[in-house]
Order: sequence, then structure tokens, then C-alpha cells
Amino acid sequence: MPIVLIGPPAAGKSSVGRKLAKRLRVDFLDTDRIIVAAHGPIADIFREHGEPRFRAIERETVARALEGDAVVSLGGGAVLHPDTRDDLAAIPVVLLTVSREAVQSRIGGSKRPLVQGIDSWQELVDSRADLYASLASVTFDTSDRPISHIVADIADWAEERA
Ligand code: S3P
Repeated sequence: MPIVLIGPPAAGKSSVGRKLAKRLRVDFLDTDRIIVAAHGPIADIFREHGEPRFRAIERETVARALEGDAVVSLGGGAVLHPDTRDDLAAIPVVLLTVSREAVQSRIGGSKRPLVQGIDSWQELVDSRADLYASLASVTFDTSDRPISHIVADIADWAEERA
């Protein structure tokens, strides 16, 4: 069964996921990266084809990524798709949260089409917070602890529930 990381942009899903997979000795899949490798930059997909097309590509990518036993980091908006929400109901889901203060230094020069600055990040988080929480098996905050500690906590959690 996969372990899935969800949460808002810049919560650390990719960095934590990569290290967690190493620690658990399983594959790591990052749906944004898979999409970029197959279709080019996400900002270009949004600009040339629109968000609905991106979400459709994302849904296909997520469905495939969830088939194996990997650690899977999802793009922040992947949970907007109802089929992905259905999939996540049956598997361990780790929500990563982060404070507005901590994220401020992480989103400079962001290539994310839906995050043009801290206010748009905050709006996006506010609109999705309940959704993220409803899907989470467990939540870890990444605002002010070293990644290695967060990874260790998630790995302990995963090993306990295995
Ligand atoms: C999005 C988050 C991005 C990326 C796309 C849309 C979102 O991923 O999938 O720009 O809707 O929150 P990250 O969460 O990895 O930034």
C-alpha cells in the first residue's frame, strides 16, 4: 500500500516525501514531477490548456502513482478531484501543514500558477483546510522543525501502524 503526502503548496511534500521513501526503502513518486516530465512545465499547461486540463492529467497521474507501494507526494490541488478523494479514503494519508510565516520564505520566485504571493497562498489554504483535514490519517507541521525530525516522526508513525 502507498503512503501519500498531501497539503498546501510549499508545505514540504516533495522534500519530506523523498527522504521518507529513502528511510522506508520504498520508491518515491512526486506527481508534479511526473507531470512535468511527460507534459512540460505546469505553468505552461495552465496557460496553454487551462486548469481543467491540468486536473485531468493530474488525476490520471495520481491514479497510476497510487497503484504501487511507494511514498507518493501529491500536488496541493490533487485532492480537489473526487476520484482521488475516494482513493485516499482507503490508504494512509499524511497531511503536512505549514504556517504563513514559515511559508513566506519558501514561495519566493514560485513557478506555481495558483500561488502569486503569500495572499493567494493563504486564500488557497483557507479554502482547502477542511478538505485536507478530512482526508488526513495523521498531520505533521513542517514550519519550524528540521526535515530529518519530521521524516523520523512520520516513519515511526508508519512503522507503528504497519
Ligand atoms: C497546485 C499545487 C502545485 C501544482 C500546481 C497546482 C495547487 O503543487 O500541482 O501548481 O492547486 O495547489 P505543489 O503543492 O507541489 O506546489
